[in-house]
Amino acid sequence: MNRKKIVAGNWKMNTSFPEAIKLAKEIMAAQTNDEVIKIFFPPHIFLHEVTEQVKQKTLFFTGAQNCSEFEKGAYTGEISATMINSIGCKYVLVGHSERRLYFNENAHQLKSKIEQALKHNLHVVFCFGEQLSERKSNLHVETVNRQLTEVLENFNGEQLNNIILAYEPVWAIGTGETASPQQAQEMHANVRDCIEKLFGSSIASNISILYGGSCNPANAKELFACKDVDGGLIGGASLKADDFCKIINSF
Ligand code: 13P
Repeated sequence: MNRKKIVAGNWKMNTSFPEAIKLAKEIMAAQTNDEVIKIFFPPHIFLHEVTEQVKQKTLFFTGAQNCSEFEKGAYTGEISATMINSIGCKYVLVGHSERRLYFNENAHQLKSKIEQALKHNLHVVFCFGEQLSERKSNLHVETVNRQLTEVLENFNGEQLNNIILAYEPVWAIGTGETASPQQAQEMHANVRDCIEKLFGSSIASNISILYGGSCNPANAKELFACKDVDGGLIGGASLKADDFCKIINSF
């Protein structure tokens, strides 16, 4: 996939069924930049219906917030990549810090999840980012490069075409604190360098790198203006149609 402008909303464990449909419909009805790919990540239980909605409009897609590392079988409560694909959903989040922190997902599992997703024709949004203590000890670059390398080195350049990256500094998620445009650009440039070392310059210049962490209508313009920031993965502000549309229109 060539480098694209993308604004994605991770609804996390929020919305009721009517709220989810209303939110998707309101965003799709608004006037938004048609150079931007828009992706909704609703809770799994609403994914089918929200996917039916987005099928009616170009440049709108859905993604699952997680998928199983296993193909199928006796894994109560899990949802497989093939199930996600079978409803017309195109994307899946892998490696979100909340999954790493609260559900102890490790690099081996993340690798298996990406394998499953790619095998079943889903695009992956692979998330990574340092914790506050790591940034304070000046270990943020090392941490991010390790998180990228330990998982992505298992894939080849062709597979990387179906992977989007999302840098989400944990200290900026849901805290109201955002990376400054300078901090974001510095890290995104480092991520592109890391990808270049692993896969070469063509893959590195084509891969889309999103920023996530308290991105909102007030700061999106400055963040999206950074050379290596290709869009955003939005949490809280994606739950308000008006805010999410303003973020999309910040390009
Ligand atoms: P917030 O925008 O609420 O900080 O969340 C970011 C995020 O985790 C998106 O996946």
